[in-house]
Amino acid sequence: MTDPALSIPETIRWAPRGTSAIILDQTLLPGVFEEKELSTLDDFVEAIYSLRVRGAPLIGITAAIGLAALARQSAAEGVSPDELRARFAGWADRLADARPTAVNLVWAVRRLRARLEAATGAAGELATLLAAEADAIHAEDRRMCRAIGEHAARLLRGGEAVITHCNAGALATGGIGTALAPVYVAAESGRRVRVFADETRPLLQGSRLTAWELSRAGIEVTILADNMAGSLFASTPPDIAFVGSDRIAANGDVANKIGTYPLAVLAHRHGVPFYVLAPTSTVDLGTPTGADIPIEHRDPDEVRRGFGPLLAPEEARVYSPAFDVTPHDLVAGIVTERGIHRPPYIDSLAAAVAEAEADRHSRGVQ
Ligand code: MRU
Repeated sequence: MTDPALSIPETIRWAPRGTSAIILDQTLLPGVFEEKELSTLDDFVEAIYSLRVRGAPLIGITAAIGLAALARQSAAEGVSPDELRARFAGWADRLADARPTAVNLVWAVRRLRARLEAATGAAGELATLLAAEADAIHAEDRRMCRAIGEHAARLLRGGEAVITHCNAGALATGGIGTALAPVYVAAESGRRVRVFADETRPLLQGSRLTAWELSRAGIEVTILADNMAGSLFASTPPDIAFVGSDRIAANGDVANKIGTYPLAVLAHRHGVPFYVLAPTSTVDLGTPTGADIPIEHRDPDEVRRGFGPLLAPEEARVYSPAFDVTPHDLVAGIVTERGIHRPPYIDSLAAAVAEAEADRHSRGVQ
């Protein structure tokens, strides 16, 4: 088997001059492995909206690197610190609005804004601080993914069949992923598991991305169309379900890629434990319940055409929410970098977030 750690794709990095970013364009996978340079505000917003970069943690990292890249460009133009701050406000609003559901995006933008507000100095110094904060967010995400994987790997003995939805793997983060992290950690220690990946209509993040990265890592993966999950559970139910999340409300309700809720209902019906794996940056204590989570609706053509030929009449109306909400009572546990949290989530999630914030403050991070 390939060493999973060696096969982890790099989702984003700085371009050599440090004023732009290089991303792996995920819209082209699995057929084409192509990187793309993002330089302008429009480039960053477009890449996030079009899912060239996607997954809650990764869009937060991308926005942070984008803000810092734009600040470095402005500093190189010789702008004043006040002008840099004014420009930053406009960039931050555009980036934060690019996609509404994943709270990691606004979380990362807020961190850079707080760093800027607390800082003094010339525009070049401010840009340097912003770049350091973006790098800190990226490095923390890498550590959080690893910690999530180590906690959740305790749920695996080896030999299990794991079902997952969408892609909450390395491609969705700056590290080894969230939902797929325990699969990689278990594999490193010789505990092989098999993965069932829902294809995940309409943009196929399961078949295009999850199956791609697991195959590269030498992990057995079986794809199923979303509407085949009921048949799988009724015949040979998987042992455990691991999914990621875009926003977890204070009460433990979980927004994730559309189709996650039906998977949770099936898991409940068949007695399969359903776990949500996400960093504390995905927990939004300011959102009381799932009903308060803003749900992104996407372009109807993503359902009518996906990436290919017309699959429905042009004039057909389309219902296309990008995410659904799984109520907390269907969730056996939520795994963050702080551990495995159990109900009542209102308490266990608040404690996890408080610990994460205390840890960041003790390290002098925003
Ligand atoms: O629309 P996408 O591809 O950004 O949706 C991604 C998901 O729903 C993931 O499961 C979620 O962001 C968690 S990623 C660790």
